[in-house]
Amino acid sequence: MSVILKENVIDALKNVNDPDLHKDLVTLNMVKEITVEGKNITAVIELTTPACPLKDKIQSDCVAAIKKEIPSAENINIKMTSRVLSHNNDKKSAILPGVKNTIAVASGKGGVGKSTVAVNLAVALAKDGAKVGLIDADIYGPSIPIMLGIGEKPKIFQDTDSQKMMPLENFGIKLMSIGFLIDDSQPIIWRGPMASGAVKQFMSDVNWGELDYLIFDLPPGTGDIQLTLVQTIPLTGAVIVTTPQQVSLIDAQKGLQMFNRVNVPVFGIVENMSYFIAPDTGNRYDIFGNGGGEKLALELKVPFLGGIPIDPRIREGGDKGKPIVYDIPDSENSEKIMEIGRNLAAQISINNINSANQKVEILLGDD
Ligand SMILES: Nc1ncnc2c1ncn2[C@@H]1O[C@H](COP(=O)(O)OP(=O)(O)OP(=O)(O)O)[C@@H](O)[C@H]1O
Ligand SMILES: [Mg+2]
Repeated sequence: MSVILKENVIDALKNVNDPDLHKDLVTLNMVKEITVEGKNITAVIELTTPACPLKDKIQSDCVAAIKKEIPSAENINIKMTSRVLSHNNDKKSAILPGVKNTIAVASGKGGVGKSTVAVNLAVALAKDGAKVGLIDADIYGPSIPIMLGIGEKPKIFQDTDSQKMMPLENFGIKLMSIGFLIDDSQPIIWRGPMASGAVKQFMSDVNWGELDYLIFDLPPGTGDIQLTLVQTIPLTGAVIVTTPQQVSLIDAQKGLQMFNRVNVPVFGIVENMSYFIAPDTGNRYDIFGNGGGEKLALELKVPFLGGIPIDPRIREGGDKGKPIVYDIPDSENSEKIMEIGRNLAAQISINNINSANQKVEILLGDD
């Protein structure tokens, strides 16, 4: 081949598949720009999320495919960018127009570390470059402001025709909490009916701007309050947090059934407090049992997004308002949480690509 053409590069990239989306980059419309200057090739690949777990693999696959198809190429520069796909939902577009995806973090049982996981996942996605918001919808004990080190209350500002609340921000996360609206001393029975009203207000009266992912920390359990909430929020999908012991797994299963009932896809299970590694001896202790989350995911046919061990630094991070993924980013457990965030982002992309394809098929079918 004497002269390298853009078409040669496109042909080469047709051989590179996105392993999650099971199609090649050209078909997926991910190849955004190709420049050829003599024997130097630059290509821009647009991923469906900045938190793509396969970013490095796709990049090296592109280089390998171009080298194979165009042996005369000398410098191959693959630039990776991203644009998060949006969940198409009419209700969501009406109430949260700038928000691409909404994710509930839920658990059947209380105290499994749901809020800790929600906060750290939010920070993990933001660290990868996504625009992230977090709504603390746990009426029983809103804890996220503390975990994100946010003490003040949100401010209200006058929009052109209405009043809007500005979310608070820390670590690149925008936050609203039900704790800003309700008084801690109010009895729980009064808080129930307020929950869906407050969450509705968070969606319609807060200036979220543009967000790739808006995460909701739900109250633990699968009762009426939770069911009303998952019907009120136009959800893209849910994540279920569990600990490995049997009682928690049974409740996680109930959580999955609740989402199935209202047709909200479950993107996966996160097992928290998976085990403890003693810092002095390095010995591993399976305090709450072993492998339960992964087994449950297999049984329920939902992805296992990953496990997070018991680590006193995770608890300390929550107490002092500095999530571990931000505060100790190089620790093994922070890397585990980053990976869970990327697995979640991949599942969201897969969901949105599949539902977009379904839409196309339905449109074609109507013709
Ligand atoms: N992997 C972990 N290692 C150590 N401590 C943890 C871990 N996950 C959570 N914790 C701690 O366990 C406690 C409970 O966690 P968290 O508040 O996140 O649970 P939750 O499921 O949101 O609880 P609730 O049902 O009350 O809302 C907190 O003190 C938190 O810091
Ligand atoms: Mg909580």
